[in-house]
Amino acid sequence: MNKHDSKPTTTDAGCPVASDEHSLTVGPNGPILLHDHYLIEQMANFNRERIPERQPHAKGSGAFGHFEVTHDVSAYTKAAVFQPGTKTDTLIRFSTVAGERGSPDTWRDPRGFSVKFYTSEGNYDMVGNNTPVFFLRDPMKFQHFIRSQKRRADNGLRDHDMQWDFWSLSPESAHQVTWLMGDRGIPKTWRNMNGYSSHTYMWVNASGERYWVKYHFKTDQGVDFLTQDEADRLAGADGDYHRRDLFDAIKRGEYPSWTLKMQIMPFEEAKTYRLNPFDLTKVWPHDDYPLHEVGRLTLNRNPTDFHTEIEQAAFEPNNLVPGIGISPDKMLLGRMFAYADAHRHRLGVNYKQIPVNAPQCPVFSYSKDGQGRTQNVSDPVYAPNSKGGPAADCERYPEDTTWAADGEFTRAAYTLRKDDDDFSQAGTLVREVMDDASRDRLVSNVVGHLKAGVTDPVLERAFTYWRNVDEEIGNRIANGVKGS
Ligand code: HEM
Repeated sequence: MNKHDSKPTTTDAGCPVASDEHSLTVGPNGPILLHDHYLIEQMANFNRERIPERQPHAKGSGAFGHFEVTHDVSAYTKAAVFQPGTKTDTLIRFSTVAGERGSPDTWRDPRGFSVKFYTSEGNYDMVGNNTPVFFLRDPMKFQHFIRSQKRRADNGLRDHDMQWDFWSLSPESAHQVTWLMGDRGIPKTWRNMNGYSSHTYMWVNASGERYWVKYHFKTDQGVDFLTQDEADRLAGADGDYHRRDLFDAIKRGEYPSWTLKMQIMPFEEAKTYRLNPFDLTKVWPHDDYPLHEVGRLTLNRNPTDFHTEIEQAAFEPNNLVPGIGISPDKMLLGRMFAYADAHRHRLGVNYKQIPVNAPQCPVFSYSKDGQGRTQNVSDPVYAPNSKGGPAADCERYPEDTTWAADGEFTRAAYTLRKDDDDFSQAGTLVREVMDDASRDRLVSNVVGHLKAGVTDPVLERAFTYWRNVDEEIGNRIANGVKGS
């Protein structure tokens, strides 16, 4: 190819440059000239390439696709995205929690399952995990929990003693730790795992009737897992195993999909249900609240620029649309603040104008100026105004995802109900959901984890913790660690 056939390199301002290889110097051997602004632009850009990584969930990847409604759930929600026949563009990001941006995909960890629906009424984000519960029920403990899973202050190492210290002093973690130490703790691929809202959310229908709901995205590829040995080997052989798998599958035209099913609880039943339906450490047994099918999420397009489309993607549980609201789950209430704050730090105040985060519907907001703004603002820049600016419409968009609350300010745990103990559901998971082979792997995974650096008194507390989940499993774990 004639060299004049290729595109000419330019500066960021589009001005052609004379060389990709040589700095501007005084003679071939002379000093570099300060006015070689192209060299300086290259250095300056390079030095600023990395943005802060996400605090938790730093390692991940994603893809684009669509969500198609297949079943009529309009009796439960008026959200446009869930009306019969609606097809909505989506972005999904999968992730691990504790590892850094370059950490291996196959470390044992919950997996993030974030979905952005670009709906006709604004962006709706469902920021969930591959497990239906979580380690905690109060956001005050979240920061401490994540620190205990990451690295020590002194040597910068991850530390199982620190992890079990926190878990064994936080019995509410038992249900999620049982999921984590079982087969779901290392999915075979992201295509082979389910996604859950975990939290309870609210749906409201066109008549204003309210329902409490939980989201279950069931993988159409089937649930599958890696054993600890397979995962350890892959962590060395291909740290990006899950990222590569998703990208290659979509490239081959094998488009993964998930079927969305909902658990739906009538508003009033929450008041008398035998367990607190807003406690994030609990599932709602399916016998009480069966699954209602809604539609299918399909991924069919890879990112073409990982940084702009995945690294700069900003998911936030507070991106809600009419017909969908939050619940009194304290964790969810805490998350309503945390994500937008993280994005302002990580991406800047105008992060919603980055194309991957921008809605596909018109925006009529009064936000103005600030670093990184790319969309023009027009007058009037204040409300109320008599100049034809946007006006909020409380009749069309009422504040209807609400509930009544009263009481003195306090710092206290949820009031306990009959079935609100920390260990029962974890015990049911071990005894009734797992089979012999998966119970054996659970024991082996926990024994391996505890043997890697956990010492007394944390170790003894970990044995008690597992005996509280299930006496026999606890004894097997203790015997396994002690070598008898
Ligand atoms: C990411 C906070 C609980 C799922 C994050 C980020 C923060 C955060 C600050 C990084 C956001 C970013 O920089 O882009 C919290 C707090 C929680 C909480 C304060 C509790 C009080 C949860 C729970 C789930 C969850 C219960 C799942 C049910 C995720 C996911 C991501 C994430 C999937 C990654 C989002 C992405 O793909 O970009 N969280 N989190 N978090 N969190 Fe949470």
